[in-house]
Amino acid sequence: MTILANCEGRVGMDAARQALLAGRPGLDVAEAGIREVESDVNVKSVGRGGGPNLLGEVVCDAAIMDGRTLKAGSVGSLRQFLHAVSVARQVMERLPHVMLVGDGAHRFAGEIGAEKAEMLTDEQRQKHEQWLREHVPADVLAGWPNVPLAEWTWVSGKDYASGGTTTFLIRDAEGNITAGTSTSGWARSYPGRLGDSPIIGAGLYADNRYGACACTHTGEMTIRAGTSRAVVSYMKAGASVREACLEAMRDLASLEGGQLGPVVIHAIDRGGEPCVLTTHELGFPSSYFLWREGAQDVAHEQAEVARSLPPQGGTGDMR
Ligand code: GLY
Repeated sequence: MTILANCEGRVGMDAARQALLAGRPGLDVAEAGIREVESDVNVKSVGRGGGPNLLGEVVCDAAIMDGRTLKAGSVGSLRQFLHAVSVARQVMERLPHVMLVGDGAHRFAGEIGAEKAEMLTDEQRQKHEQWLREHVPADVLAGWPNVPLAEWTWVSGKDYASGGTTTFLIRDAEGNITAGTSTSGWARSYPGRLGDSPIIGAGLYADNRYGACACTHTGEMTIRAGTSRAVVSYMKAGASVREACLEAMRDLASLEGGQLGPVVIHAIDRGGEPCVLTTHELGFPSSYFLWREGAQDVAHEQAEVARSLPPQGGTGDMR
């Protein structure tokens, strides 16, 4: 049994471990862990307490994937519901679809009785207003938000701390593998922006036969490189989990232009062996939490910086 959660997943580790030790399937374990993160207003990039888009709205993305069946569910740009991951799971359980976004996701969440919540905290509202005052000239701000918004996404993209996600990878008692993600996305992004977290193959992928992967930070890059599916495919081709992550890092290093920034790759192989690599020395923690069967405590480890890569631009403005 294994639980690998990223740095934002700390508050969900206990719930996940309890669920795993109680014999719950990996889907329940990942959902239990992620729900704790989504509820915690101290986590500034996931669920309630997350950063809003340029319109000041908190919109959440989440996904879950079952490595036994390769079934998956995801939601994008979900507003005013506390647990995007649970709505994503119900997309998988109740619909013939994989992904719902925007108004359809909102409608479905209401239909299944998902818990509603005010997702924008006072702290984030004040931070947003302050960001606008500091970055947007007064004459533009006077017309906000009915002004061209595109320019301001390049400004917000320079702040690496404006992104973040929680990811959980589980190998349960039956050897089944699950991947789950949840995020409020890139703070002060353009309305309608989807990151990688709800995109199967980019933000997450799980396949019992080989392992699982989930990514955090610059979703624009992992979407372009198909990173999570790539890691699992490299393991399918015979790479170890670390070799697979390094190869996916090389893919990321080959990207040119667009938004280039940090990416942290979290992966486990089919036996639960972990690997966490980061593209950059981040100016904030790039640690992860790991619990494996037989361990007394959850380990808190630092991600390995993928130094074999050429240095990336990563300025946040690579037009
Ligand atoms: N990795 C989260 C996002 O890009 O939204």
